[in-house]
Amino acid sequence: MFGTLKPQAPDKILALMGEFRADPRQGKIDLGVGVYKDPTGLTPVMRAVKEAERRIWEAETTKSYTALSGEPAYLEALSAMVLGGVRDSARTAMLSTVGGTGAIRQAFEMARMGNPDVTVHVSDPTWPNHVSMLKFMGLPFVEYRYFDGATRGVDFEGMKADLARAKKGDLVLLHGCCHNPTGANLTLEQWAEVVAILERTGAVPLVDLAYQGFGDGLDEDAAGTRLVVSSLPDALVAASCSKNFGIYRERAGLLMVQVADPAQKDLAQGALAFLGRQTYSFPPDHGARIVQTILEDGALAADWRAELEQVRLGMLSLRQQLAAELRSLTGSDRFDFIERHRGMFSRLGATPEQVQKIKDDNAIYLVGDSRLNIAGLNRDSVPVLARAIVEAGV
Ligand code: LMR
Repeated sequence: MFGTLKPQAPDKILALMGEFRADPRQGKIDLGVGVYKDPTGLTPVMRAVKEAERRIWEAETTKSYTALSGEPAYLEALSAMVLGGVRDSARTAMLSTVGGTGAIRQAFEMARMGNPDVTVHVSDPTWPNHVSMLKFMGLPFVEYRYFDGATRGVDFEGMKADLARAKKGDLVLLHGCCHNPTGANLTLEQWAEVVAILERTGAVPLVDLAYQGFGDGLDEDAAGTRLVVSSLPDALVAASCSKNFGIYRERAGLLMVQVADPAQKDLAQGALAFLGRQTYSFPPDHGARIVQTILEDGALAADWRAELEQVRLGMLSLRQQLAAELRSLTGSDRFDFIERHRGMFSRLGATPEQVQKIKDDNAIYLVGDSRLNIAGLNRDSVPVLARAIVEAGV
């Protein structure tokens, strides 16, 4: 049976995690995988999460299955957080998913069920696993220009020109905020222009919102997503709770499918439940229950928001420190884009050789495309990284 198995190409982010663990050097710095770390290098359990878990443990009387599409109260609470006032319940089918990745995967499945001829449009670059999943599923995809290597901002003219080529019923994958891997994001005015292109072409957006609260704030980071959803008839949104609730291993996510006509909602809901059943049957509940418990309780939600805000501001201040350090080392403002980027990541624009040199000489681990995880830094390691960047000739 297994004679035809072939080695799989390793996921470069996960491979880097292994390489970092195996490096014996003292003072090594991990700026690879997108996991938040506090200044001491820990990925803490958030206060509200601990408290929610205590309450769940005390009150829980059964481990029987939840609903096939997920606990309605979880779907209600999280969708309200993501979409705010623009959620149209009569037109929105929802599925509790195995993390944000599970939501993306089921979104691709839904797109294929809705349109067997779908082509998926992804940003160049995008999260490598987007592309990997599309290849694995055999779904045709094309890239649209996104990152401007010169300014390290968005190549918006290129993006618009490429998206204008999308066909009716194609799927356009957009990062809701904190673009992974570049850190370069659309302004709200640019989101409006993207919406206009989607209206004109009839292509359907899939917004991947994995870092809500890590960029400019919870509502600010959802503004583009909300504009898309409130302006267009069909839209898909994949949300992750891994980062903003810090519950990575609990795998809590949400897929929302907004249909044009309320009459289509039951069909969409049935398709989502079917997809869940075919992949893993009922969704996991613990992470979802944590999120629901926090969002339904005013005081817990306020504490969670406060801690998340502290995390966000900490990353912003590291960005400012790194940009300032590089300004003083180089006597130029060419690294100021680090301050303008938002979220966990920035793409430095270094060559693979420079990334390798930074790793070899300093035990500092960046993803090969020169993506760095800002949250892997602290006030002491910022100057070390700045020096390494300059010494590598970036
Ligand atoms: C990342 O981009 O580093 C994260 O989304 C973690 C992952 O699964 O790749």
